[in-house]
Amino acid sequence: MEPEALRRGLEAAGQGHVLRFWAELGGAGRRALREQLQGLDCGALGAAFRRAGQGGARLGLDTRMEPLPRAVLGSATRDAERLPAWERQGLHQISQSKVAVLLLAGGQGTRLGVSYPKGMYDVGLPSHKTLFQIQAERILKLQQLAEEQHGTECVIPWYIMTSSRTMESTKEFFLEHNYFGLKQENVIIFQQGMLPAMDFDGKILLEEKGKVSMAPDGNGGLYRALGAHGIVEDMERRGIWSIHMYCVDNILVKVADPRFIGFCLQKEAECGAKVVEKTNPMEPVGVVCSVDGTYQVVEYSEISLATAQKRSPDGRLLFNAGNIANHYLTVPFLRDVVNIYEPQLKHHVAQKKIPYVDLSSGQQVKPDKPNGIKMEKFVFDIFPFAKRFVVYEVLREDEFSPLKNADSQNGKDNPTTARHALMSLHHCWVLNAGGHFVDENGTRIPAIPRMTRGRPDAIPADARCNLKDANDLPVQCEISPLVSYGGEGLEKYVENKEFHAPLIIDESGIHERVKNCVDSFSGSQQAQHSL
Ligand code: UTP
Repeated sequence: MEPEALRRGLEAAGQGHVLRFWAELGGAGRRALREQLQGLDCGALGAAFRRAGQGGARLGLDTRMEPLPRAVLGSATRDAERLPAWERQGLHQISQSKVAVLLLAGGQGTRLGVSYPKGMYDVGLPSHKTLFQIQAERILKLQQLAEEQHGTECVIPWYIMTSSRTMESTKEFFLEHNYFGLKQENVIIFQQGMLPAMDFDGKILLEEKGKVSMAPDGNGGLYRALGAHGIVEDMERRGIWSIHMYCVDNILVKVADPRFIGFCLQKEAECGAKVVEKTNPMEPVGVVCSVDGTYQVVEYSEISLATAQKRSPDGRLLFNAGNIANHYLTVPFLRDVVNIYEPQLKHHVAQKKIPYVDLSSGQQVKPDKPNGIKMEKFVFDIFPFAKRFVVYEVLREDEFSPLKNADSQNGKDNPTTARHALMSLHHCWVLNAGGHFVDENGTRIPAIPRMTRGRPDAIPADARCNLKDANDLPVQCEISPLVSYGGEGLEKYVENKEFHAPLIIDESGIHERVKNCVDSFSGSQQAQHSL
């Protein structure tokens, strides 16, 4: 496109200012900017901006919301007697290579503040495994469990959505680590789209004089990206039926959880959401509920405190199905989402601090308060299109501990809380398999029953514990996903044995002394031995 035509198009869309510094750019700079601008549909962008703005707050949600009916609900605690059947069904489908996992890893991780993809983050476990490695090993273990049970070789393909900010480093990381033992052809890395960042009036911001500020189009950008890269066709070619979709930052994620998959299959659901109980009305988490008869996520900010505080007769919050972006989809439903429903998904507006070039001075500015917006689609906005939708509740301490913030910033959802959550869970697994931890005097470290939120009968006594050592740190215990996916098969390692922390159990056996763990006690000098 000729520069004049480009200029006319931009001016017609109210975006002529992006060429403000054209005269100052050299040949290469002009070419790069022209290329970037030609890839943008400014008319569609303006329309999306107006549509997102018009939506504003959804009105009257407080009176239109209904809690989830029991018929769509399954629970890892309240339906304990059904878990074996769900697990069998899920594992059977995995054994037939009909299950894939879909990872959302295109975010910028601004709160964590590292320059590389979050999946490459090491939270400081004794093994120093990254989030990507932990997830890859869970996939490997599940394949192995399904193969052992059904005697057939199987594959769980792993589709990883990245963005232009995370694509290359993600690919390099997997290559460098030999795909963590998975076959390269079964790890499919693709890229989501980007949208320009804008000021509050919908004017595109410049990151540099010759560069538009771009940001990934939200995790709901997934559906466009799936269409653009022919991913659904790839799934169909491989004979996939069930997809487990999740976020990269949850260290406890049960990738392709057979129980969740089995539950969704038994309910013949097209789409399902895994949730954790919201117990604090003020917790800023979206809840899954029904609005005017369709299932959707209602954000914390969209309802009044009075509604958030409502309780059911059993004392739990009425709207307690906390969304953890952990979903089930069938491939036929996903195909319809990509081909039919995606254009109907609205953009959400997120106010952000966006570095920009000031148009009058030409100076780069780093704002200290939000100065503009990024437009994002959300993965869960497809729920209302599902003809059969179900919800599966799990325990937060078993399955959800997201990594959002840096340790320095915030006491919540940071590397320390993620590391501690994983080690506490693994300590529970050891106890449940008949092992014990002892302190330096040889005294057993007590297991304190976990809080059951007023429902002590709801959780099998042998399955729940909350473990702290004398320093109120979790006992340091890490079990490789290659040894156990969800706590199974540990008896042969730990039954009737006593251990000193730190304890690590991996493919090569049991190790009681680990160097360099972030929480290591300086005096810890136990000998290392393998069984
Ligand atoms: P968050 O909304 O927590 O964003 O993403 P983030 O990028 O991880 O962190 P901040 O907000 O910049 O600090 C939740 C999940 O959605 C993915 C993320 O990678 C994460 O797994 N995501 C988010 C995408 O895949 N694409 C996006 O455009 C945004």
